[in-house]
Amino acid sequence: MRYTTLGRTGLRVSVAGLGTGGYSRLGLGTGKTEANAIAVVREAHAQGITLFDTGTNYMNEAVLGRALQPIPRDSIVITTKTPIHKADGTLTPERVIAGLDASLRDLRTDYLDVFMLHGVPPAHYQYAHDVILPTVLREKDKGKFRHLGISETAPGDLQHEMLRRATLEGWIDVAMVSFHMMHQSARDKLFPHTMAQKVGTMLMYAVRGIFTSPDRLLTELRAAVAAGQIPVSWYTDTNPLNFLLHPGGAETLVDAAYRFARHEPGVDIVLFGTGNTAHVRDNISSLLGPPLPAADHAELIRLCASLPGLGLDRPAHATPAIR
Ligand SMILES: NC(=O)c1ccc[n+]([C@@H]2O[C@H](COP(=O)([O-])OP(=O)(O)OC[C@H]3O[C@@H](n4cnc5c(N)ncnc54)[C@H](OP(=O)(O)O)[C@@H]3O)[C@@H](O)[C@H]2O)c1
Repeated sequence: MRYTTLGRTGLRVSVAGLGTGGYSRLGLGTGKTEANAIAVVREAHAQGITLFDTGTNYMNEAVLGRALQPIPRDSIVITTKTPIHKADGTLTPERVIAGLDASLRDLRTDYLDVFMLHGVPPAHYQYAHDVILPTVLREKDKGKFRHLGISETAPGDLQHEMLRRATLEGWIDVAMVSFHMMHQSARDKLFPHTMAQKVGTMLMYAVRGIFTSPDRLLTELRAAVAAGQIPVSWYTDTNPLNFLLHPGGAETLVDAAYRFARHEPGVDIVLFGTGNTAHVRDNISSLLGPPLPAADHAELIRLCASLPGLGLDRPAHATPAIR
């Protein structure tokens, strides 16, 4: 494993982080057992991962807490998050603090390394800043968490407006950002600011659904063509990213996607989500692998840098805040 510093938090963390949300939720989202989820967490730790990301809405903090129990607390970094809104409106500061307290209880810890506001849309930015922040900072003063972060709502904020504001206004230490081979807007819109302000970045959506299934990728492309979001020339019967797969290049699209994300300037940690111990090992191998060949990387930028942001899907079973 390789380790890095998570921006101005000063935390030393593995460059690969285990995410426990998304489609897999440690496998619990696809019908696998709690024992399997614990095995996935332990395998990640055995392979050198020291950062574990969760959230109250993933409904598996207690499982993660049990899995991490034997591991010395000060040798790992736990990041979690709680939403500040539901479909029908914003949540009170008291509800947000209740989420923080539930995380501490379920994760069996008396502090969180990073506490984040989960999936904040641009429309709720001001509410987060004016109403939630003062209350949350009082909990920080009590020692409940060490650093504050925010995660964005990827499909609703394609240009990273919310994270850019929070970064420039200087009140977050960590930003959870969406970025992948076909959603590259953070390169220009956000990373220059997070790097300048030394805000730590944790990447989500590096693979998601779009790069695990060629059919899904083609379906997304055709929908974007039909919606007039991308040129008709993208309409294709074969996967347009197949040029990445060759000797000396990527082995699979998943491999390509994690390597692409990992070597982007401004990215501190790439999260991956899985319920499969073999995928833990494969993904770490990709994330520790070399950058994509320069010609392939250049071609990905030529083809995809101006796409509107594809593949920012959510699991069909997801509530608004299970992302
Ligand atoms: N707004 C937010 O706050 C937000 C939103 C999204 C994500 N996140 C965080 O970011 C983390 C990572 O995001 P993500 O869930 O989108 O993860 P991801 O790593 O981009 O994609 C995970 C998906 O790819 C599959 N997969 C993983 N490794 C694979 C491999 N080697 N081969 C084939 N399939 C593979 C997983 O299924 P298998 O179980 O089969 O491996 C899962 O369906 C989440 O767990 C969560 O912690 C936060």
